[in-house]
Formats: sequence, C-alpha cells, structure tokens
Amino acid sequence: MTKPLNIGMIGYGFMGRAHSNAYCKVNHFFDLKYRPVLKAVCARNAENAKAFADQWGYESIETDWRKLVERKDIDVIDICTPNNTHAEIALAAAAYKKMILCEKPLAMNGPEGLKMVQAIEKAGVANMVWYNYRRVPAVTLAKNLIDEGKLGRVFHYRAKFLQDWTIKADLPQGGQGLWRIDVAAAGSGVSGDLLAHCIDTALWLNGPIESLSATTETFVKERKHNLTGKVEKVGIDDACMFMCRFANGSLATFESTRYARGHKALNTFEINGENASLSWDLHDLHRLGVYDYKEGEGKLRGWKSVHVTDNSPEHPYMDKWWVPGLQIGYEHSFVHQVADFLTGLASGKPAMPDFRDAYRTQVVLDAIMESAKDGTWKKVAAV
Ligand SMILES: NC(=O)c1ccc[n+]([C@@H]2O[C@H](COP(=O)([O-])OP(=O)(O)OC[C@H]3O[C@@H](n4cnc5c(N)ncnc54)[C@H](O)[C@@H]3O)[C@@H](O)[C@H]2O)c1
Repeated sequence: MTKPLNIGMIGYGFMGRAHSNAYCKVNHFFDLKYRPVLKAVCARNAENAKAFADQWGYESIETDWRKLVERKDIDVIDICTPNNTHAEIALAAAAYKKMILCEKPLAMNGPEGLKMVQAIEKAGVANMVWYNYRRVPAVTLAKNLIDEGKLGRVFHYRAKFLQDWTIKADLPQGGQGLWRIDVAAAGSGVSGDLLAHCIDTALWLNGPIESLSATTETFVKERKHNLTGKVEKVGIDDACMFMCRFANGSLATFESTRYARGHKALNTFEINGENASLSWDLHDLHRLGVYDYKEGEGKLRGWKSVHVTDNSPEHPYMDKWWVPGLQIGYEHSFVHQVADFLTGLASGKPAMPDFRDAYRTQVVLDAIMESAKDGTWKKVAAV
C-alpha cells in the first residue's frame, strides 16, 4: 500500500501543468512508498482554478494561497508562481511545517534565499527546488561518468541558454505571461530565469565556482507595463555572459540571452577533461556527446553520440519507461524529480537540490549581478 501525500499546488501555468503531469504519472512508472494526491490547486481566479482542477483531477480549489498553507489536509506546498512570491509563500508554509517543493530560482536574491533556507531547516521538513534538468537521463549519466572519474582533470566548462522571444521592442512587460520581463516579479532577467538552470547543472557536475566576471545588457530599455499601462524602464538583464573559475581549477564561460534570433531554448553544456569530453543539448536531450581519448587517436577517432535510452543502472531512470531505444522527453525530468523526492522521503536520504543546495546558485547569481554592475571580478562566497 502506498501512503498518500496531499499536494497543494499554487499557480497553474507552465510549471503547474508540468508538475501536475508528474504527480499523475509517477506511481504508474515508479515503485514508491508514497503517492501524490492532487488535493488542491490555488489560483487567484476561482473560475480558472476550477477549470484547471477539473482538467487535472484536483479535489478542491483555493483562491488565496494563505488559506492553502493553513489547511490541515495538505502535506506539501508546491510553489509554481512567479519568483517574487516564492519567499513569502515558503516562509508561511514552513511556519505551518508543510513540506515545500519550490520552483527555481529559489528566491529573488541571496539574502532572501538564505531566509528561506533558515526557515525550512528550522521547520525540519522535506524540501526541494525544481532544477529539473539534473533528471534528464543523459545529464544524470554525465554526472555518473564524472563521479566515476571518466574525465580526469577538468579544464573547461561551457554553457549556453539561448532564446529569442523578447526581441520585439513593442512587447509589453509585466502581468500574466510577461512577468519574466518585469524586474519586480522576476528579480532579474535571463540570469535568474535561464542561467540559473545552467549554474545549478554546473555546480552539480563540476563543483563550486570560486570567482567570476560578468556583463549584462538590456537591449530594449523601456516597455509598456501591463499592470500600470505606462511606459516604464526595463529593469531586467536581456542578456548575460560570465566567465568564471571553478574550485577544481577549470575555466568556464556561460552565456544567456533572449535575443538569439532562431533559438527557442538552446540549453547546452560541454565539459573538457584530460581523458574525455562530454556535451549535451536540450534539443536532443536523450543524447550525450562523449569523446573518449582512451579509445585511441586512430583514424576513427571522434565524438560518440550516446542514445541514453538503454536499461538502468547504466542509463539512469530508463528501465522505468519503455523498451531500450525508445526515448522520453522534457516532461519526464519532472516525473523523475518527484520520484526522487518521494524515494528520499521514504529513505530519509533527501533528494537534491534542497533549498540549501539551490541557495548556492542564488549566491552565484548575486555575484553575477554585482560584477555586471561594476565590471570587476567577484569572489563567490562558499556556502
Ligand atoms: N523548472 C523549470 O524548468 C521552469 C520552467 C519554467 C518556469 N519555472 C519557474 O516556475 C515559476 C512559474 O513559472 P511559469 O512559467 O509556470 O509561469 P506562468 O506565468 O506560466 O504561471 C504562473 C502562475 O502563477 C499564478 N500566480 C501568480 N501570482 C499568484 C498568486 N499570488 N497566487 C496564486 N497564483 C499566482 C499565475 O496565475 C499563473 O497561474 C517561476 O518561478 C519560474 O521561474 C521553472
């Protein structure tokens, strides 16, 4: 018998759908001690909340998240709302000793993130942040290969996350669907939205970042604000690049923009070690590029494209799905994340990234913003 775990989800947009899908699927594919129950969805508009609840099978709705966190029949608060709401909701939920699954980035900035870490650790409840790319099987395989020592000494890490959806100068900022362009709701632009993913993956694969130098640009300086109706200054970074030094001695470059015409979600990394290199691309997410120097330098030398669809444990998570050779997609990374969270809950060995782990990304983001402001190298605090 599985133990029910009552989910109270706040927000029903992109991530609300991705998480709901994961809750619905996870027990069909993974053998787990817990079973998520779609207890309540919260949205400010009752009609929309009801429609979402009907579509996904939520048992009830709330229109004020404060009511949801107080409810005795809710075990887990899932925060799927814009970044400026994460801290307030998490602090309230932690006070009610609810487990919390929070979307990324954890917070608007480091100090806010630290308050969330302290609150959740004081509450002593399970918590996790949805840096889902760790759970793409090819990315998890990269982590396993690195942990096995396949790369040897690492020299370089290179990451990109490119989009093109904000190029139009008359695109407004703020409100439903466009909160990402409003600094008051998002905290930052591509750095917190896109680079946060790249940083989380990099810290996981390559260890801590020691120092960095960053530059940002806001290409469109003013946009009409959907909430005020006025033309207002744009406060987010439209593009951000930084170079850094990792504690393991490797050098790295990171680039993110929403102005790379033709790119919708080009999220990639490449790692170059003394014995091997690895590469990954979200557009081909089931493949891991591997160059293994030890295989020889003969005329057939070259990169391999490993189709990460074989059985576990060699190919992480894949024995839970179809037969070898059949691929899975973006949404499965969320199913894997829920599965790992529930496994961690049952075993007492929490799944990562928890709030503290996600706070490390926040500290890097703060250093990026400070460096971009004054153009100097910044040390990244070890936390
Ligand atoms: N893990 C990932 O890959 C990933 C991808 C996209 C977004 N995100 C993160 O998820 C969060 C949500 O992003 P999204 O793309 O789903 O946004 P979205 O705009 O699609 O959805 C946001 C939802 O929050 C609701 N909302 C806003 N304020 C609210 C409030 N006070 N009370 C209740 N509901 C409220 C909106 O009505 C909407 O349903 C953000 O923090 C974002 O950074 C993560």
